[in-house]
Amino acid sequence: MCALNDVNRPVCVFDSGIGGLNLLYACAKMCPEINFMYFADNYNVPYGSLSEKRVKALVHDIFDEIASYNPLAVVVACNTVTALCISDLRARYNFPILGIQPAIKQAVRTAGDCLVLATPATVSSPSFKALCNAYGQGRVKAVACPSLASYIEDNIFDYPDIKISGLLPAASPSSVVLGCTHYVFAAKSISEAYSCATFDGILGTADHLRKILKNLQCFSVKKRIIQFKRGDNAKNQKIFNMLLSNLNK
Ligand code: DGL
Repeated sequence: MCALNDVNRPVCVFDSGIGGLNLLYACAKMCPEINFMYFADNYNVPYGSLSEKRVKALVHDIFDEIASYNPLAVVVACNTVTALCISDLRARYNFPILGIQPAIKQAVRTAGDCLVLATPATVSSPSFKALCNAYGQGRVKAVACPSLASYIEDNIFDYPDIKISGLLPAASPSSVVLGCTHYVFAAKSISEAYSCATFDGILGTADHLRKILKNLQCFSVKKRIIQFKRGDNAKNQKIFNMLLSNLNK
């Protein structure tokens, strides 16, 4: 349970870049009485094309800063970091750490089969293979997209009509799993390119956070604050404001 003097402690949300803003938005909407801080590393995107060793070094540096804010919980809003680092992070820190994973279970259950688009690091990780074995029922085709996250990071101000069809693999799937939070910004273009529904782990992860905070009885801040603490803060704030205004229409 939260101590009374702890109610202002933030939930920290972290991604390599802008992708996690989708998840920050969903978490902030589901948990209106919680303070949030957003941490990004926009100048090192894409993590998904870096070595595992380099990603772990970058992530540990950022988590040491996150830990200094004494967070209620941390949301890793990055499929790549979840795949490569979540076990290490949970062993190292004693606050709750949630991750996001490709929504394979939901896509296969709903559509029968799926094409998973994700970063090279995610697709080649043991945890991704375990996820496919557990929930894919042999109906998953996974394709690594080496340049998609950085293209979206660089062209985000075309949202919601980011033109990415030239970067997509040829396929005729029944559904597409957006296995990188950056891709959620291009969901409309991806859905149009394959003429099918897309799935992602955004709402499921935000709902998981809500349940954890409810168990901790931490819903009490009167006027909550959302701060941008690391990375290209001006860009991240601007895109978050754009999400707020688009989704409030
Ligand atoms: N947004 C990250 C993810 O969900 C990946 C972007 C990157 O490669 O840095 O996997």
